[in-house]
Amino acid sequence: MNFNIAVLAGDGIGPEISRQAVAVMKAVCQVAGHRVKFTDALVGAAAIDAVGDPFPPETEKLCLDSDAILFSAVGDPKYDLDPNAEVRPEQGLLAMRKKLGLFANIRPVQAFAPLLHQSPLRAELVAGADFICIRELTGGMYFGEKVETADFASDVNAYSKGEVVRILRIAFEYARKRRKFLTVVDKANVLATGRLWRKTAQEMSTNYPDVTVEYMYVDNAAMRMIREPAHFDVMVTENTFGDILTDEGSVISGSLGLLSSASLGEKTPLFEPIHGSFPQAKGKNIANPLAQILSVAMLFEYFDCPDEGALIRQAVDASLQANIRTADIQAPGVEPCSTTRVGEWIINYIQRR
Ligand code: IPM
Ligand code: MN
Repeated sequence: MNFNIAVLAGDGIGPEISRQAVAVMKAVCQVAGHRVKFTDALVGAAAIDAVGDPFPPETEKLCLDSDAILFSAVGDPKYDLDPNAEVRPEQGLLAMRKKLGLFANIRPVQAFAPLLHQSPLRAELVAGADFICIRELTGGMYFGEKVETADFASDVNAYSKGEVVRILRIAFEYARKRRKFLTVVDKANVLATGRLWRKTAQEMSTNYPDVTVEYMYVDNAAMRMIREPAHFDVMVTENTFGDILTDEGSVISGSLGLLSSASLGEKTPLFEPIHGSFPQAKGKNIANPLAQILSVAMLFEYFDCPDEGALIRQAVDASLQANIRTADIQAPGVEPCSTTRVGEWIINYIQRR
């Protein structure tokens, strides 16, 4: 294949983990005989600083003209501490999701065997956990009408049936390819949007007789996820709930630095870690690059290159086995590795296959 990749490294640890993922992708393309071209573009606080816009038109154009986007992270403390800021880095991410029609965010949550004892949850509890959270990404409260005055604020949580149908369709299809068990997570006992989700799922389920559907309130799902994570196969939920539940999901894996995701929709697909810009670690060469590297595996899998995806996953597993790990997941008493050391080890592994 011939890949044209837009690289949006963004802020904080973004550029450091992006560099490792780009190098990994280059190595895999070399081994597998693909051509790849990377083009950098500005996003987030870096883009605000440079051109005053967190998702500038040039970046949008590059994204639209590329086969895929490798996105890292946005966010900067100087904006977090200033609720009155006119423009925020996160707006770049939201604008990008909306403008590129990236309505489906696929977030796999799994336990890694070598890290079972790294999770704050008991090992026997997380062993065998392997599910996908499908988060709606361009609707709900994130994008509903906002009112913000000195003494009042509101965020409207709105979904059209069409928006619900298209995300549920993706969830049913994923379930079909896996263990055929779909959990629809909502708050239908309280929220009108939750009832729309539930009714729509019930209607659609007749078209997927091979998929078993269960309905779960989000508060209950938050509890079940850590009490019995292996229960789930495919979970689908609205934007805000999906944001919250997937950070919780990272506890199952052992670190937020391990979870990757794919954002899919109408235009160019985007691959990203689920974590943020981790500004405290910026420039220290300590950030875990695995979530970003695993997002490259998801990229290959999306383009029907399962062997290339598997090679990356194998290399990541081998690095975990060999204790080539950053501080967030290093075994007790073992010296943690730097971001670049982990990246280089994985590239070396790939080149030796
Ligand atoms: C995520 C992030 C974003 C979100 C932030 C950075 C706006 O937390 O991708 O999960 O809330 O969607
Ligand atoms: Mn989040």
